[in-house]
Amino acid sequence: MLTTIKEVAAHVGQEVKLGGWLYNKRSSGKIQFLQLRDGTGFIQGVLVKNQVAPEVWEEATKLTQESSLYVTGTVRQDDRAPSGFELDVTHLEIIQVAEEYPITKKEHGVDFLMDHRHLWLRSPRQRAILAIRAEIIRAIQGFLDQQGFTLVDPPILTPSSCEGTTNLFHTKYFDEDAFLTQSGQLYMEAAAMALRKVYSFGPTFRAEKSKTRRHLIEFWMIEPEMAFVDHEGNLEVQEQMLTHVVQQVLKNCEQELKTLDRDISKLQQVKAPFPRITYDEAVELLHKEGFADFKWGEDFGAPHETKIAESFDRPVFITHYPTEIKAFYMKPDPTRPEVVLCADLIAPEGYGEIIGGSQRIDDPALMEERYATHNLPLEAYQWYLDLRKYGSVPHSGFGLGLERTVAWICGLDHVRETIPFPRMLNRLYP
Ligand code: 4AD
Ligand code: MG
Repeated sequence: MLTTIKEVAAHVGQEVKLGGWLYNKRSSGKIQFLQLRDGTGFIQGVLVKNQVAPEVWEEATKLTQESSLYVTGTVRQDDRAPSGFELDVTHLEIIQVAEEYPITKKEHGVDFLMDHRHLWLRSPRQRAILAIRAEIIRAIQGFLDQQGFTLVDPPILTPSSCEGTTNLFHTKYFDEDAFLTQSGQLYMEAAAMALRKVYSFGPTFRAEKSKTRRHLIEFWMIEPEMAFVDHEGNLEVQEQMLTHVVQQVLKNCEQELKTLDRDISKLQQVKAPFPRITYDEAVELLHKEGFADFKWGEDFGAPHETKIAESFDRPVFITHYPTEIKAFYMKPDPTRPEVVLCADLIAPEGYGEIIGGSQRIDDPALMEERYATHNLPLEAYQWYLDLRKYGSVPHSGFGLGLERTVAWICGLDHVRETIPFPRMLNRLYP
């Protein structure tokens, strides 16, 4: 039976057999140090020439980087080892001697690494990121499930757009036209009227020609939607959820955050309540902080968001954006209809918008007006209008972009490392 590296702590002084890969090797003539990984962790195997059978020593000399093997040895506690343990190797069995591995110790360019993404995933850094990504998903689902939300899956192929028509992926659906979903929100609104508190978790697509550190073509979104929850209640769920997520990652991913050299003092601050400022206040702040030309009614770009975030030690909500620059479904502020009851949540340290959300229009007449101003064909959106005609209630929701959240929590400077196989403007391979 195989033991995993993650389990060796329970086997100190015992002989175990591991299955894994060699990621590096050092040799001093009489000792071979085998850096081993097995997918659950990393450990150094030590092979002493005059303590093992000559065939075993011989086999070890044949091991190239990424060769696969079974290795047997005694677990020894060693406080100098990064993992805290070493393996005194007694026996090994090669599964395959790997061909010359393209990713070596030397520095590689990003394009090269991206072309070899299928292999790059094996590095300690990429492994740590994917482990944290999974923990973030677990934490979000744990929080929402515990709060009484029901997971509902919206369709991927859709007849219409949710977030505007400029960045839709078009495809044929037999004789009809269809689009890859930009957001499951509209469907989640329907589900909220059936199950009250719902959320979706799935891939979304934006044919965006932007080549930035924050944009992917295919990304994953978590979209909660809640009946009988207003704008303020919506923000409370968001700050509670993110606090839970960050604290759970700090607790369960200590090793991974260390691998990434993440400054965790910045994450420890992330506790609800988060500060809230209005769009108007944000514009005022920008005017004072070197963006004198910024005009009311423009949307914030990355430099603006970074500047605004600098004034806060935790994520900040920017609320009440101009109606003009936001999506058609957002509810206008009854006291000031030129702004909407919405919020973008801006992460600290320059990571930008990680959540977009709002209270939704619940009045059918106003919604019909919006269809007209936004040129939305009634045939395609009739069903969405129905939600306002048959027992309309106040409701709100939001979408959290998983990859931007992973980039922020891991402290990465580009979203390309936050998803196993990123789809970007110039990348569809591998
Ligand atoms: O702000 P967005 O466009 O909002 C919506 O789609 C709403 N329908 C969500 C809702 O209310 N249910 O997108 C939400 C989040 C953004 O805050 C951002 O984190 C992420 O999705 N996002 C992207 N992430 C990576 N690459 C892109 N191209 C992204 N576009 C949006
Ligand atoms: Mg947005």
